[in-house]
Amino acid sequence: MMRQCILGSAILVIALSVFSSLFNFTQAQPQTAKATTDPYEAGVINSIFSKWGISADKTQWNISGEICSGRAIDSTTSIDDGPFNPFIKCDCSFNKKTTCHITALKVYALDVISQIPPELWTLIYLTNLCGYGTSIWYRNLGQNYLTGSLPPSIGNLTRMQYMTFGINALSGKLPKELGNLTQLISLAFGSNKLSGSLPDELGKLVKLEQLYMDSSGISGPIPSTLSSLKNLVTVWASDNRFTGRIPDFIGNWSKLQVLRFQGNSFEGSIPSSFSNLTSLTELRISGLSNGSSSLNVIKNLKSMTILELRNNNISGSIPSTIGEFQKLIVLFLGNNTLSGTLPRQKSSILKNIGLPTGLNCLQKTFPCNRGAARYSDFAIKCGGPQIRTADGIVYQADNETLGPATYFVTDTNRWSVSNVGLFGGSNNPMFESSVSNQFTNTVNSELFQTARLSASSLRYYGLGLENGFYNITLQFAETAILDSTTWKSLGRRVFDIYIQGTLVLKDFDIQREAGGVSYRAVQKQFRFEVKENYLEVHLFWAGKGTCCIPAQGTYGPLIQAISATPDFVPTANNTSPSNKSPSSKKNRACLIIGLLWVLELFAF
Ligand SMILES: *[C@@H]1O[C@H](CO)[C@@H](O)[C@H](O)[C@H]1NC(C)=O
Ligand SMILES: *[C@@H]1O[C@H](CO)[C@@H](O)[C@H](O)[C@H]1NC(C)=O
Ligand SMILES: *[C@@H]1O[C@H](CO)[C@@H](O)[C@H](O)[C@H]1NC(C)=O
Ligand SMILES: *[C@@H]1O[C@H](CO)[C@@H](O)[C@H](O)[C@H]1NC(C)=O
Ligand SMILES: *[C@@H]1O[C@H](CO)[C@@H](O)[C@H](O)[C@H]1NC(C)=O
Ligand SMILES: *[C@@H]1O[C@H](CO)[C@@H](O)[C@H](O)[C@H]1NC(C)=O
Ligand SMILES: *[C@@H]1O[C@H](CO)[C@@H](O)[C@H](O)[C@H]1NC(C)=O
Ligand SMILES: *[C@@H]1O[C@H](CO)[C@@H](O)[C@H](O)[C@H]1NC(C)=O
Ligand SMILES: *[C@@H]1O[C@H](CO)[C@@H](O)[C@H](O)[C@H]1NC(C)=O
Ligand SMILES: *[C@@H]1O[C@H](CO)[C@@H](O)[C@H](O)[C@H]1NC(C)=O
Ligand SMILES: *[C@@H]1O[C@H](CO)[C@@H](O)[C@H](O)[C@H]1NC(C)=O
Repeated sequence: MMRQCILGSAILVIALSVFSSLFNFTQAQPQTAKATTDPYEAGVINSIFSKWGISADKTQWNISGEICSGRAIDSTTSIDDGPFNPFIKCDCSFNKKTTCHITALKVYALDVISQIPPELWTLIYLTNLCGYGTSIWYRNLGQNYLTGSLPPSIGNLTRMQYMTFGINALSGKLPKELGNLTQLISLAFGSNKLSGSLPDELGKLVKLEQLYMDSSGISGPIPSTLSSLKNLVTVWASDNRFTGRIPDFIGNWSKLQVLRFQGNSFEGSIPSSFSNLTSLTELRISGLSNGSSSLNVIKNLKSMTILELRNNNISGSIPSTIGEFQKLIVLFLGNNTLSGTLPRQKSSILKNIGLPTGLNCLQKTFPCNRGAARYSDFAIKCGGPQIRTADGIVYQADNETLGPATYFVTDTNRWSVSNVGLFGGSNNPMFESSVSNQFTNTVNSELFQTARLSASSLRYYGLGLENGFYNITLQFAETAILDSTTWKSLGRRVFDIYIQGTLVLKDFDIQREAGGVSYRAVQKQFRFEVKENYLEVHLFWAGKGTCCIPAQGTYGPLIQAISATPDFVPTANNTSPSNKSPSSKKNRACLIIGLLWVLELFAF
């Protein structure tokens, strides 16, 4: 990944200026050679910092007096460098090396809660405005809680190259004057509360290489003017309300490596012009409506590492060339109407395709306990140890370690769980969570202290159930996105819930259901008929919500408990078979990379 806060050539200029002043000194020339900060800009920095209630570390650089001092003019220190925060960088080569202008400003994760002071937009020498707000999840960019809108005067900062406003609470429309910042290489305004559509003027930013605008609040079609942005390498645009077709001209962004388009309202097809995007390493598109696509488009995109094309009405067969995609790690093609077979040859990373025994419990026909009608209820403590609640229900432990493509069947074949999906950007995926907080709206706090998480698709099955109508209770509480007035509260967890294949909750947001409160229990009840001795509860991430607040991988399904009770007089005796199935026991919680293919290619 490219670093965002690169100072460009200014560092070199400063080094030369230090050298020449030394030289002047040895020549014993009388002029004062020391450059000083533009007093207007020094005043602006002081004013902004005092409004935001932040100050500099005096040993590194000084906020009062000579602010272009210490690290701020030290050529070996980059604006990126983590420990210096807040931080500025200056360029002292102006006006015959007598004047320093502020070229970079960083305020990282200092939880500044404020409007943006208008004087910021007068710092016209800025080339890098990084982390007074931030866009993305890198550690050296900052998250704050800036409110208000971006004003037209932003267009005055015409030297700007790297500008990030991500993970803030900015509202209103994007000003068309953004199009004046024609030097921009990286622009980020993701994870905000903006509205309106992308201004046509963005098409003037022809140097743009990175555009981060996921979860920004922006809606409407992608403007045709963006066809000129042919230097784009990375585009994050998931979880917005973009409409219309995915433009053909994107196939002309020939340098494109990453395109994230999940969780929008696009319609039509994946443009055939995408077949030209041979540099693509990551392509994520989901939920295309009113159209049909073919996988021929990706036939020659052999650099692909992550290909996620769920739910796009893609038909036809999987191109045999996919076996030559040597870097492919994640392939999710679920809920399309693909036919044919997997290619015989496959990438070495995805080599373990297979259907081990035990998985038969998860096949469409659910042979485990089929017709046996052994059970008439079940209760699962998702992601945690067994718990008996105040009302006497015993929630069975679901505390096996699950991986990114795992299933688990209890040794009594009473219920099973399958998890599929890798958390993007997270190196240490956790599919369960545990906290020690007390919860409101429940007398069973303990039930909510552990939870099951999934990056994509989490399915629970009640097995061997007597047929009839069941009352199903799902229990949730948000434990990762906190309800504070800090940037950490800006996250939104959004997922869909299906029971017996029927969508029962779309765009479900636990915290919103709880009135915006974390650690508050939310119960959802449903009544469904079991006709073939199994009940399926499917929690599914459709690409909506934020991806990375407060931490990378904070998204996707979260659930604490599932229970089902018969709404009829049961005859099943709820006793486990005495000879427990050895195969299901042996295969408890095994990791099967191939399941990524098997489940996600062909399971709905
Ligand atoms: C900042 O100013 C203080 C005195 O006010 C001085 O001791 C310190 O060295 C200065 N720091 C830098 C980095 O110039
Ligand atoms: C900055 O922008 C505003 C609004 O676009 C404009 O009125 C003002 O003259 C500009 N200031 C400078 C110094 O260019
Ligand atoms: C800045 O942007 C506005 C709106 O797009 C435009 O009218 C104006 O001409 C631009 N100014 C410059 C100097 O390019
Ligand atoms: C792609 O670029 C070519 C050459 O610049 C141009 O002729 C063509 O119209 C563009 N295609 C689209 C869909 O914009
Ligand atoms: C791919 O690019 C070539 C050369 O620019 C062009 O002729 C061709 O039409 C493009 N293919 C598609 C499907 O857009
Ligand atoms: C589907 O696409 C067709 C052709 O593009 C269009 O006429 C129709 O209005 C679209 N329907 C919906 C529901 O969007
Ligand atoms: C899905 O694709 C098929 C062609 O494969 C098409 O006939 C059908 O209309 C498409 N469905 C929708 C909802 O667009
Ligand atoms: C699967 O596709 C159907 C039809 O497009 C849609 O209604 C359903 O919500 C999708 N299911 C999932 C889990 O995406
Ligand atoms: C419980 O029901 C199952 C399935 O009908 C039956 O095989 C088993 O023998 C029964 N066990 C007891 C103890 O009644
Ligand atoms: C699961 O929880 C049970 C208690 O319900 C405990 O005995 C067992 O060790 C736990 N297993 C794991 C893998 O944590
Ligand atoms: C099941 O739920 C319905 C309402 O959805 C309720 O009327 C009924 O009493 C419940 N049955 C049991 C056994 O709790």
